[in-house]
Amino acid sequence: MKHEIAVIPGDGIGPEVIREGMKVLNAAAEVTSGLKLKFTQFPYGAENYLKTKELVPEEGLKKLSKMDAIYLGALGDPRVPTGVLEQGILLKLRFYFEQYINLRPVKLYPGVPCPLKGKGPEHVNFYVVRENTEDFYVAIGGRAKGKSRAELEVLRSIYTAKFGLDLDVERDEIAYQIGVISRKGAERAIRYAFELARKKGKKRVTSVDKANVLTHVYSLWREVFERVAKDYPEIETEFAFVDAVTMWFVKNPEWYQVIVVPNMFGDIITDLGAMIQGGLGVAPGGNINPEGVSMFEPIHGSAPKHAGKNVANPLATILAGQMMLEHLGEQEAADNVERAVIDVLKEGKVRTYDLGGKSDTSDVGDAVAARVREIN
Ligand code: IPM
Ligand code: MN
Repeated sequence: MKHEIAVIPGDGIGPEVIREGMKVLNAAAEVTSGLKLKFTQFPYGAENYLKTKELVPEEGLKKLSKMDAIYLGALGDPRVPTGVLEQGILLKLRFYFEQYINLRPVKLYPGVPCPLKGKGPEHVNFYVVRENTEDFYVAIGGRAKGKSRAELEVLRSIYTAKFGLDLDVERDEIAYQIGVISRKGAERAIRYAFELARKKGKKRVTSVDKANVLTHVYSLWREVFERVAKDYPEIETEFAFVDAVTMWFVKNPEWYQVIVVPNMFGDIITDLGAMIQGGLGVAPGGNINPEGVSMFEPIHGSAPKHAGKNVANPLATILAGQMMLEHLGEQEAADNVERAVIDVLKEGKVRTYDLGGKSDTSDVGDAVAARVREIN
């Protein structure tokens, strides 16, 4: 099949790692009969923002919506206040295209050093399905200072009634931000997790939350989980609190098979997940709308201090490319890319500094691309 891929290299090391990702995808297309990939570059990121004051223009969104998938490098630049590019581009695209799943495989490949004592590839191999459009990412909130007297009085009465706090509304400033879980949003994420478990032959789905404290939002989440679980009687289920899960990731990662988790805790536990699979240099993710345009990216950021030096590990981006191929239905090509990454890692000759090697970014891309061609 032919697929139209939008490429957003972005900021910092983004362009360097995305170049290697495209190199490997092109190699995969070369050796897979019938597979064609057409890449179209989009300039969104700091440089473009500083020049044009635009993040992602309406026009751009229209063009992107005609694509089969988006391949993203990284966003974030010290010249732009923190959050502007992340919210204006990354979160904008996740929300605009309703990419309600953030799929993050936590898989330790052979030959990759793991910081956990006594753990190897047979212990670290699970999926985190992070809900990607709700929870504390809905940007509903505010700060109350310099607001009308009436508004401050309402807030004061809430504070007094709820917490017994005697707030001086003239002087004390408050800030609040709310999380939202909808039945529909929870259901589609949870169902995706169970379907994934079925497809990948996993036997257990763990729901992670903090329902003992954030009772409103996560009691709804749990209710939906229990209902959806009934449709998958062959799959074992459990609830776990997020604080406990951070402990178990370190102590017993082999317990986990598929985890489904609301947005914010999913963000946090997948950085921990990345570390136990060998670091951010090897951790990919997919922002998925099963019925729309999905976007694949390494889960690391733009690492400005490494930018332009050709030292960053491109494997996370290459593996994000592999996830994109799988999503596009190109299983054979996806398997080749993963095989090639495994072979290069196992051989251990070509690896970047974060994995204890001396190779540069393009050496790794070259080695994986060459291996993709050999496998075929
Ligand atoms: C991630 C990132 C983003 C998130 C930021 C950059 C908005 O940390 O993809 O995990 O919080 O989702
Ligand atoms: Mn994150």
